[in-house]
Amino acid sequence: MKFHVMTLFPDMVLDGLNTSIIGRAQNEKIIEVEAIDIRDYTRDKHRHVDDYPYGGGAGMVMQAAPICDCYDDICRKLGKKPRVIYMTPQGKLFNQEIAKELAKEDDLVLLCGHYEGVDERALELLGTESLSIGDYVLTGGELPAMVVIDAVSRMVHGVLTNDESADFESFEDNLLEYPQYTRPEVYKDLRVPEVLMSGHHANIMKWRREKSLERTYERRPDLLADANLDKKDIKYLSTIKSLEEQNG
Ligand code: ADE
Repeated sequence: MKFHVMTLFPDMVLDGLNTSIIGRAQNEKIIEVEAIDIRDYTRDKHRHVDDYPYGGGAGMVMQAAPICDCYDDICRKLGKKPRVIYMTPQGKLFNQEIAKELAKEDDLVLLCGHYEGVDERALELLGTESLSIGDYVLTGGELPAMVVIDAVSRMVHGVLTNDESADFESFEDNLLEYPQYTRPEVYKDLRVPEVLMSGHHANIMKWRREKSLERTYERRPDLLADANLDKKDIKYLSTIKSLEEQNG
């Protein structure tokens, strides 16, 4: 899979993705990240990419032409028109399901905005979809694009090894992950839960499932509406709820 990032700060994107698992996946050519400097597509002798907003107001707006020319160049080289995602706090909230869906693409273009945003006509002409990584405003779309690339890449076959497998983890089944422990058995008087030392596989699975349910109920109850729950899960959740009610 290849990511084409349209940005004013190509080094920021490339530097941020060249270590750890995503760096390894690039070295192994399982994924590719290309960062394209939008400024290279300006026709202005001062290499301006932004201008004042029509109608007034604070800040600058990124102009349509360099962005459209940059995208046209990507399309010309690829011989097709890949999906374009514009990173913006006004976008659809990014989640694991979207990451999995995007991982099916061979090519994905990510557009990083700056200043007060991008001329709406560029977004219209490119047929962009919009994604937000959360309800807060960052100074640019580069970090959000890196977040999306990381989450999508993990879903691409071959990026994770068996040990790093994404099969059992947070957001599978729409539940948060259970707590994890490693050696030593006791640290600062805190002991690893007995069941995890028992070697009893079925009990360990039961404990983990219950902890996942508890965590999700406490921290992200909104996820439970779409969670894949069986009868035992529902019963366990009602036990937690009634315990909570008893304890006020
Ligand atoms: N650009 C600035 N803030 C953003 C956010 N929260 N998500 C996506 N793109 C952004």
